[in-house]
This record gives sequence, C-alpha cells and structure tokens, in this order.
Amino acid sequence: MGYKVAVVGATGNVGREMLAILDERKFPADEVVALASRRSVGVEVSYGDKTLKCKALEHYDFSDVDICLMSAGGAVSTEWSPKIGAQGAVVIDNSSAWRMDPDVPLIVPEVNAAAAAGFTKKNIIANPNCSTAQLVVALKPLHDHAKIKRVVVSTYQSVSGAGKDAMDELFSQTKAVYTNDELVNKKFPKRIAFNLIPQIDVFMEDGFTKEEWKMMAETKKILDPKIKLTATCVRVPVFVSHSEAVNIEFENPITADEAREILRKAPGCLVIDKHEPGGYVTPYEAAGEDATYISRIREDATVENGLVLWCVSDNLRKGAALNAIQIAEVLINRKLITAKKKAA
Ligand SMILES: NC(=O)c1ccc[n+]([C@@H]2O[C@H](COP(=O)([O-])OP(=O)(O)OC[C@H]3O[C@@H](n4cnc5c(N)ncnc54)[C@H](OP(=O)(O)O)[C@@H]3O)[C@@H](O)[C@H]2O)c1
Repeated sequence: MGYKVAVVGATGNVGREMLAILDERKFPADEVVALASRRSVGVEVSYGDKTLKCKALEHYDFSDVDICLMSAGGAVSTEWSPKIGAQGAVVIDNSSAWRMDPDVPLIVPEVNAAAAAGFTKKNIIANPNCSTAQLVVALKPLHDHAKIKRVVVSTYQSVSGAGKDAMDELFSQTKAVYTNDELVNKKFPKRIAFNLIPQIDVFMEDGFTKEEWKMMAETKKILDPKIKLTATCVRVPVFVSHSEAVNIEFENPITADEAREILRKAPGCLVIDKHEPGGYVTPYEAAGEDATYISRIREDATVENGLVLWCVSDNLRKGAALNAIQIAEVLINRKLITAKKKAA
C-alpha cells in the first residue's frame, strides 16, 4: 500500500516539476492529486504518462492525504498549510512562509535530514530558498572538513525562480527587442531581456534585499548558526538554473585539491573542474539535472584559509521540487510517517 500525495500549485513551474520527479523517482504513491487555484479547475497536467485534471485547493478534503507538496506562494501557504497539517497530512512547503518558524524544520536532505523528525509540532516542513539549497549542498562537506567562518556569495539567478509569468516576461521582452516592439515590465522592476537586475525580492531596512537575507538566515538554520554569510543576489536573463560565485573563509587550512576530492565524494555534488576553455558547468547544462555542479575551485590567497568556487544547479529541481520530494523520501525511509490507508 502506497501513499496519497497532493501537489498544490500543480500548474506552476515547481508543481509541474514535482509531478515529473514523483514519476521519475518512482515515488511510492498510490494516488497523486493535482490542485491549484479556482482558475485552473479542469486544467490538465502530466504525471508520467498519465494526465491529471486540476481540482481547486479551497474545496479539497485532505483527510486521506499523507503528503502535501505545496508550491503556491507564501500567502496560500500561510492560510492553508496549518489547515492541511491539522487534517493529518504532512505539508512540505516551498514558500518562505514557514522557513524561520522554530517549530518547522528547514531541510536539505544531504545536510540535515535528521532534523526532519521535528515536523510533528505543526505537520509542516519547509524547503529552503532555491539559492540556499544548492549552496548548502556544496558548503556542508567543506564545513565538515575545515569549518567555515565566513562566506561571500554573488548569485546569478534565472527568471524561472520568479515563476511562470517571469519566464514569459523574458521570452516576450527578448522577442520585442528583435521585432522593435515596446518592452513591458510586469514581474521585474526593470527590463530583464539583455540585462541584469541587482534586486531579488523586496528591500530590507539595512539595504539588503529579502533574498539576500534569506540566504544568510537559512544557511545558519540548516548548516550552522556560527557561519557568517553575506550575499548579493542578481537576476539574469537565463531561463533555468541558478549560478553562484562563492568565496569561503575557513578556520582550518584546506587546499583546492582537497576540496575537489571532498566534493567529488559528497552526496548531491558533481565536480567538473578542468582548467581549459569550457571545463566548467554553465546554467544551460545544469537545467533538467539533479546535481549541484561545482567548478572553478581555487585557493584565495587574499585571506587565510580561503577558497573560491562556482556552483550551478537547476533551481526548479534541487532548488525546489527535487528537494521537496527528497524530504518526503526521508520521511518514508526513516519511518517517520505511515500511509493512512495502511494504518486504517
Ligand atoms: N521557482 C523556483 O525556483 C522556486 C524555488 C524555491 C521555491 N519556490 C517557491 O515555490 C512557490 C511556487 O513557485 P513557482 O515558481 O512554481 O510559481 P508559479 O509558476 O507562479 O506557480 C504558482 C502556482 O500556485 C498556484 N496558486 C496561486 N494562487 C493559488 C491559490 N489561491 N490556491 C491554490 N493555488 C494557487 C498557481 O495556480 P494557478 O495556475 O491556478 O494560478 C500555480 O499552480 C513559490 O512560493 C516560490 O517562492 C520557487
């Protein structure tokens, strides 16, 4: 007997990817239901070779659902996750609504799978921000070896991180440049086609953006509260995959060769680091893949015990859908949940 899984936000970028990954990984589901807003009732989405018709979240009864994979934004999650959790389904949420709640574990399975057991207080587990997920996968094995003191990260984040409408905006603006039509900015504060935007999410009082703050706060919660991190997050005209240039300062010595060897053996990491033209991974190549790719590993002689590296991953997969499903697999493999039908 398998599990009943609900995917909320099934018409969105992350929701569609979740349905694809549930099928690819042969997730032990007896039944998968696709839910979205009222606007999408009857809209068809693919789940492997099956087609599911979307139902409305607001009319759905979760009493026989085991796992709810939620990717419908912060406002929907704030309202619905506690109600769904109260009906006995474990919610794995992709929004930022619950990430810093002390009663909600924030999980990247390669880094802190054991903390998932803390979900029982609210029946909610949070998935981190996409740029944090890939970063901590790369940092964890290096931290275990040489203890990270400080990280300086600059991100190059794709438009799919801002949802399906943002992908449409890059496409239509790019077309408008070639056809000499007017460029319309709706999702982004400035034009994104053939441009870069050094602002992701809203500004905070100290001048950092919320996305930059999330990277700092979430890295502390997932990996180690003692790590100091500062970030500059930039939106780039790339459809899928986030890239990061990462400077790391360690407490103990570590060479580039040692880091390469450690990362080669680390779960979720794939090192491609040849000192030749093209001997590194670009966002285009990482799209559709599960790994966190690490390239350009080198020693930073401007600080004691410093390394620099380039880290790329598919934000819709490791940054969202894949990580959420890996969390669900942790719940099952560690016997933290039982299928309701089986228990009945
Ligand atoms: N994209 C990423 O890389 C990424 C990474 C990490 C986390 N996340 C988070 O994941 C969530 C979804 O992101 P996305 O990129 O998939 O966005 P998206 O492409 O804009 O999709 C949003 C989804 O939410 C649904 N939705 C909106 N309002 C709803 C409501 N009132 N009731 C039920 N469903 C509703 C939409 O359904 P309709 O089609 O019916 O409107 C759609 O399925 C966000 O919280 C985002 O911050 C995204």
